[in-house]
Amino acid sequence: MATILSVETSCDETAIGIVKNRYIRSNVVASQISVHSIYGGVVPEVASRQHLTMINPLISQALTEAELDWGDIDGIAATCAPGLVGALLVGLTAAKTLAIVHQKPFLGVHHLEGHIYASYLADSQLQPPFLCLLVSGGHTSLIYVKDCGVYEMLGSTRDDAAGEAFDKVARLLSLGYPGGPIIDKLAKTGNPTAFSLPEGKISLPQGGYHPYDSSFSGLKTAVLRLVDKLKQKDENNLPINDLAASFQETVARALTKRTITCALDYGIKTIAVGGGVAANSGLRQHLQTAATEHNLKVIFPPLKLCTDNAVMIGAAACDHFNRGHTSPLTLGAQSRLPITKVMSLYKQ
Ligand code: KG4
Ligand code: ZN
Repeated sequence: MATILSVETSCDETAIGIVKNRYIRSNVVASQISVHSIYGGVVPEVASRQHLTMINPLISQALTEAELDWGDIDGIAATCAPGLVGALLVGLTAAKTLAIVHQKPFLGVHHLEGHIYASYLADSQLQPPFLCLLVSGGHTSLIYVKDCGVYEMLGSTRDDAAGEAFDKVARLLSLGYPGGPIIDKLAKTGNPTAFSLPEGKISLPQGGYHPYDSSFSGLKTAVLRLVDKLKQKDENNLPINDLAASFQETVARALTKRTITCALDYGIKTIAVGGGVAANSGLRQHLQTAATEHNLKVIFPPLKLCTDNAVMIGAAACDHFNRGHTSPLTLGAQSRLPITKVMSLYKQ
C-alpha cells in the first residue's frame, strides 16, 4: 500500500494531503476565498503569492496530523494541469524539490482525475466502469471512467461551466464570491418554480438536441434580463431567494437530465459526482431522486472532498504509483490538458 504526500495549488485553495491508497491520513486546506472575494473573483497573481506563503507550513501540518515523517512517504505528487499556470507552478516546484531532497518518486496529477478520485475516497469499494459528472468552476463534463488513466469524454459544456454560471449569477445579484454556496443557501427559502428559465439545449445540425452537452451562458443572460425587468418594476424589492431557487432548479434539472440519459444510453449503473457544484443541495436532490427511479447508484462525496483538496490528488497518484507510473522531473504546468491525455504525464 503506497503512502503519498500530495499538493494541490491549481486555483484558490492551497491544499496538502497524505493518503494511503483510499485512506486519508491528513487533509489540510487553506482557502483563499477571503483574499479574492474583495475583487469578486480569483486574481491569478494574488493566488500564486498566497500559495507561496502557505505551502511550507501546510506541509509540516499535514505530516504532524498524520503522525508520519518523510521516511513513511513513498512518493510525492502535485496537480500539474489544468489550472492557473503561476498557481500550479508553486505546488509543482515544491513537490519536485521535496522529491529530489528526500529521494522519492514524483507524480504529476491531472486536476480532473483528482476530482474523479474523490469518489474512490468516498466509497472504498468503488470500481470502474462508472460515469462521472464533473461540475466545477471550470468544467462541466460527463466522463466515462474505464480504468485508472483511461477516460472518454461523453459530454461537456459549450460555454460557461456550471460553477461559473453560479458565480456569474451571484455577481449580477451582488451576492459575493464564490456564488455557488450563497445561491444554494438562499434557494432553500425561495420558490424554485417562481420563474421559468431556459435549460440551454445545444441544437444539432441534423435537428434535435445534443443529449449530453450543456450550455449555461443563455441561462445567465436570461437571469440578467429578468433581473433588469424586475428592477424596472421595483428596484428595492428584488425577489432574490426566488431568483436563486429558480436558477438553481434549472441548472439541477438540466444536469440531471443529461447525466441520467447518458448513463442509460451507455448501460452504466453507477454515477459518481465530483467538483465544487457537486456540493449543491438542489443537484444532489434531483440526481438522487432520478437515479433511484432508474435503479442507478449515485455517489456524492462529502462536501469537503467535492471542493478542491489534495487528498483526491493523492488518491489518483496512489493508483498510478501502484501501477508503476511516475513522472519525469521535467514535467511542466499546463493551463489546459484534456482528461483523455492523462497518461502523457507519466514515463512510458
Ligand atoms: O471544484 P472547485 O472547488 O474548483 C474548481 O476546480 O473549479 O469548484 C468551485 C466552484 C465555484 O464555482 C463555486 O461557486 C461552486 O464550485 N460551488 C457550488 C457550491 N459550492 C461550491 N456551486 C453550487 N452549489 C454549491 N453548494
Ligand atoms: Zn477543482
